[in-house]
Amino acid sequence: MTTNQHTTPLPTTHRWPEGAIVYQIYPRSIQDSNGDGIGDLPGVISRLDYLQELGVNAIWLSPFYPSPMADFGYDIADYCDVDPMFGTLDDCKRLIHEAEARHIKVMIDLVPNHSSNEHPWFKESRQSRDNPKANWYVWKDPHPDSTPGHPLPPNNWIDVFTGKSAWEWVPERKQFYLHSFHVAQPDLNWSNSEVRAAVKDVMRFWLDMGVDGFRVDAVYWIAKDPFFRNDPVNPAFDPKEDERYKMLTHVNSCGWPAAYAYLSELAHVLHEPAFAQKERFMVTEAYPKDGDAVAAYLAFYEGIDPQVAAPFNFQGLMLRWEAEPWRRFLRVFHHALESLNPLCVPSYAFGNHDKSRMVSRLGEKAARAAALMQLTLPGMVFVYYGEEIGMRDVPIPVDLVQDPEALGDPQGQGRDPERTPMQWTPGHQAGFSTSTETWLPIGPDYKTLNVEAEKDDPRSFYTLYRTLMALRNERESLRYGFVQVLELGHPDLVGYVRSYKDEYHVVLINFSDQPVTCVPGVKLHKFVVSSNPDANLTDGANGTVELLPYEAVLFTQ
Ligand code: GLC
Repeated sequence: MTTNQHTTPLPTTHRWPEGAIVYQIYPRSIQDSNGDGIGDLPGVISRLDYLQELGVNAIWLSPFYPSPMADFGYDIADYCDVDPMFGTLDDCKRLIHEAEARHIKVMIDLVPNHSSNEHPWFKESRQSRDNPKANWYVWKDPHPDSTPGHPLPPNNWIDVFTGKSAWEWVPERKQFYLHSFHVAQPDLNWSNSEVRAAVKDVMRFWLDMGVDGFRVDAVYWIAKDPFFRNDPVNPAFDPKEDERYKMLTHVNSCGWPAAYAYLSELAHVLHEPAFAQKERFMVTEAYPKDGDAVAAYLAFYEGIDPQVAAPFNFQGLMLRWEAEPWRRFLRVFHHALESLNPLCVPSYAFGNHDKSRMVSRLGEKAARAAALMQLTLPGMVFVYYGEEIGMRDVPIPVDLVQDPEALGDPQGQGRDPERTPMQWTPGHQAGFSTSTETWLPIGPDYKTLNVEAEKDDPRSFYTLYRTLMALRNERESLRYGFVQVLELGHPDLVGYVRSYKDEYHVVLINFSDQPVTCVPGVKLHKFVVSSNPDANLTDGANGTVELLPYEAVLFTQ
């Protein structure tokens, strides 16, 4: 692993990612502007006013590039264009411009591990063993035990989506290529410096266009065992519960330390003089494997310049909604980060296009408490579209399932339930589209659960999110303050103080389904907001707070 030299002088002002509220846009599902039932970039532009009013500081757009859509855009056939389904390059320029006019930064998805099998690089690479792109993908000869006419895969690696062999035979080369995800997503060969140079050029293309940063996809997979050894069998695999991919422990097929060096090369691009006039930032997607999540996150902060890069923090998706693991994590993680380098920016994602929605995972009350918690934690906070109105996973009838991951999922639903169209109004197709059909069905609750219905309702999810976002935008301690975890002496409570200069806030969270009396031991002057609209809190003059089941509250001085 490379270590940071921290040669760059400490910035004297705060960088935009510090405290930023980033709204994740799944372009297929925000707004359809041309009536084809699929969201698009002009649709996103038409909703920028909404996002500005909501209080977001940045958007991250999932892929909108030309793609055969085997994995809904994560299979890219041209890294430097827009799929006609989503609009044109000019629409994209307009989107960046319009966002900037509203003080909204734009991050786009960079997918470095694999391209589409329809990408010209792969089409060339697959033709022979000696063409100019021959070594741009991961090609291997059959296993030595193969018999004539029956080539066996070089090792036991399996793909994430089906849990079956990750190797696909190509007769033209008499070799297999590796696809860690879909068969239509061949892995690029990151040990080849030409590939790395090409991906850096892709970054330059978009930085030139004005994007403020990247969300970097599936980074564990860019570095694999150079000897291509088998992955060991996972003794804990449960075929009834687990997706097939969990059959093996993926210690060789991904997660090798060269990833930090490769990603450092990408981070350097953000520092190039041509781009450094604006602050650019990248956030890397790597779910910590079982074991020590804090160590896994720190390895990224240590390995890649924290002035321009941070790993996603996925605890909001991975931890049980229980006080003890959260208390421990917050204490250890923020302390470690602070001692490592003051430039490190945490980046909390509590939802995304790959995971069940917050309300479906946690229940309504806990999801509201989680929203209060997320929006009062330090660093970047990633809010997945629809979470701000409390959207739920939508069950998808079997014949309408789209997601390739459904193939390896025992429930057969894959990730479609969390990708359904945004619910704007109680009208036709929830205001998402004028078409008779949408790419995924609209949630059955859209008549009552939609932006229009929630906007003026003081009890709604929308009002809670908007209130919390406004506070985060106004209060320096919520944006920049350190987090100090309190000793509350109760197993179901977590509390922390965010302080900056002479301003501070106190957050108290009850993780249990019972009311709890909390004596925080710090001054609670003004009651600001509760996650529970039934709360009847007053300023905490006597130092005791009665918390309702699954309630989170915010006080300030
Ligand atoms: C990431 C994306 C996911 C995609 C996969 C392959 O995990 O978030 O949606 O399927 O990478 O690109």
